[in-house]
Amino acid sequence: MMDTKPTRNLALELVRVTEAASLAAGRYVGKGDKIAADHAAVEAIRLVMNTIQMNGTIVIGEGEKDEAPMLYHGEKLGTGDEPNLDIAVDPIDGTSVLANGTANAIATVALAPRGSMFNPGPFMYMDKIAVGPEAKDVIDIEAPVAENLRRIARAKGEQVEDLKVVILERDRHKGLIDEVRKAGARIRLIRDGDVISALMTAVPASGVDVLMGIGGTPEGVLAACALRALGGNIVGKLFPRSEKEAALGREQGYDLQKILTMNDLVSSDDAFFAATGVTSGDLLRGVDYFAHGARTDSLVVRGLTGTERRIISTHHFDKLNEISSIHY
Ligand code: FBP
Repeated sequence: MMDTKPTRNLALELVRVTEAASLAAGRYVGKGDKIAADHAAVEAIRLVMNTIQMNGTIVIGEGEKDEAPMLYHGEKLGTGDEPNLDIAVDPIDGTSVLANGTANAIATVALAPRGSMFNPGPFMYMDKIAVGPEAKDVIDIEAPVAENLRRIARAKGEQVEDLKVVILERDRHKGLIDEVRKAGARIRLIRDGDVISALMTAVPASGVDVLMGIGGTPEGVLAACALRALGGNIVGKLFPRSEKEAALGREQGYDLQKILTMNDLVSSDDAFFAATGVTSGDLLRGVDYFAHGARTDSLVVRGLTGTERRIISTHHFDKLNEISSIHY
């Protein structure tokens, strides 16, 4: 038995970042303006993240510097002191659902040791399968859909008919949906938000067993940070949007045939993940406003220990507005 003292849990600092993003973006729920909502979240994230004692570099952010003035790939955040970390940030996963006021928009951030996060390069999309702990060793992105479902069901001691598969509702998934239906599993189509859906596969009683289909590569890295800590698994393959993107990726040294394991997406156990609900969904409640304040609901995970916390916070705007440069 080792006799080391407990070390700093950065996820507990990260949750203040995602809470601030949700509080800022929560004002835009249902207002039809996803750009303004995202911008509010970005500003809040940057402000709070810069107070964290760390030397962070954004690996997953809002894009390249010329298209994103804040939270761009390569931007430094934090006080500049050690530890040296990679940052993955999705200020709002589900900007459209937020703008429409529908379910499952979250603010989410992850940290991991420098050099441990996958850099998506030009690849916006990847094909992915995510599952919880019981089925973590049986998924294969190259195997047929029915075969994956059979293996997942067996690993969970269930029938394929018992499984529920989450799939983004997109035209590109027509074939996948047909295959899942033919195999006999149930489906939950979602408008947006495959980070929270991937995570739900590792949360008992979430009602979701597997996420399948093509979604964001940045979202894949964020989901990997959470799933690694929660004992689940995610595997995938880059999915170029065009031959031009594929050629650019190859030039940059990406192998499009490579299977991306969870370890490729984040290679360290020492990762931290936080997510706060903006609109209410299956796992997290959205921001609830009341006179002079609001309540937020967050999930906070630390990879090294696997500790998973649910944090419900009550925020008092009358007090916060006296000291904060964000107006709540
Ligand atoms: P945004 O909120 O950044 O738009 O992402 C929402 C999302 O649904 C992700 O969860 C998912 O990975 C991605 O979009 C899928 O991309 P697309 O909407 O282009 O199919």
